[in-house]
Amino acid sequence: QELELELEALEKGGYDHFMLKEIYEQPHSIANCMRGRIDHERKKINLGGISEYAAKLLTAKRIIIVSCGTSWHAGLVGEYLIEEYARIPVEVEYASEFRYRHPIINQDDIVIAISQSGETADTIAAIELAKRAGATILGICNVVGSSIPRLSHTGMYTHAGPEIGVASTKAFTAQVTALSLLALYLAQQQERLPLSKITSLLTALETAPALITTCFQSNALIQHIAGEIKDSTNCLFLGRGINFPVALEGALKLKEISYIHAEGYPAAEMKHGPIALIDEQMPVIVIATKDSSYDKIISNIQEVKARKGKIIAIITEGDTVIRAIADYIIEIPPCEEALTPILATIPLQLLAYHIAVMRGCNVDQPRNLAKSVTVE
Ligand code: G6P
Repeated sequence: QELELELEALEKGGYDHFMLKEIYEQPHSIANCMRGRIDHERKKINLGGISEYAAKLLTAKRIIIVSCGTSWHAGLVGEYLIEEYARIPVEVEYASEFRYRHPIINQDDIVIAISQSGETADTIAAIELAKRAGATILGICNVVGSSIPRLSHTGMYTHAGPEIGVASTKAFTAQVTALSLLALYLAQQQERLPLSKITSLLTALETAPALITTCFQSNALIQHIAGEIKDSTNCLFLGRGINFPVALEGALKLKEISYIHAEGYPAAEMKHGPIALIDEQMPVIVIATKDSSYDKIISNIQEVKARKGKIIAIITEGDTVIRAIADYIIEIPPCEEALTPILATIPLQLLAYHIAVMRGCNVDQPRNLAKSVTVE
């Protein structure tokens, strides 16, 4: 027993929980995901196995992304990236819905299956269905040699390393990194983005590990904010555009490990329902970085403040406008808009982590949840 405990402490590498260790591993895991895939000199992306399927990918009329849980959130970010850069229509589906609703699948469709474990039963069933209909399957998985990569025609490993905490952290940011590389790869093959744009996006991706490290500087502040809101019974997470899926992921992290009811919403949809819930007791966490949605999100923050909601804003470093209206601000470094989902996720993971610890929850093994869901 004692030996087991010692071994576990060793595995946690000095961190109190696997989840915290895995959050702090993200500069590394993202670098590993990019390793060998970016040709620095020629500013090009090489995606080994996928290049064999490049023609199929480029002529695809549509891409369908199937996944579950956190991987589904990564898929939503992927939808923004692929549509923005490669201009191929993308649909993102819960694997469990897709497999049971008699979906229309064409032979020239590409189905991207995203899964950390590579073993999720619903995602596997969705792949089998799409394969029977003649679609090409591209797997984005973390666990090497798992079922989904074996069932896929082609794919990419995320190389985030083993993820032990049930709540997914480093696997998510690696999935988003892989999808960013894929979107840029497609854009580059199509020769549709100016080289300067591709270069600046690649440079942004390459700086991601260093920028994530900068985000960790807010850890003590995030811990303080966690202490202020840990007794809430509900929390709302808002984001717009590419950061809407980040709001969903922030809410999922909080409910998974702290058991606080949390909802993620596209900020503009707030007025169609959630606004009715807002009062002094309701923390509203808003991703309000300086991107294309910035002005709109300020109005959303004002709507919450007018109803006495408590605003915790994730902002771009140096932003004084939101600093003046929010109750708490957490800064992330300025970056390309395409990179904000990765950076804005970090403080949300830390916030959920600290709240769960303060509430005495079992962070690494939350009740009723499994790391890999191999039953339907
Ligand atoms: C479970 C895990 C989640 C994960 C989801 C999908 O619910 O607890 O963290 O996001 O399954 O798993 P996958 O391995 O397919 O990404």
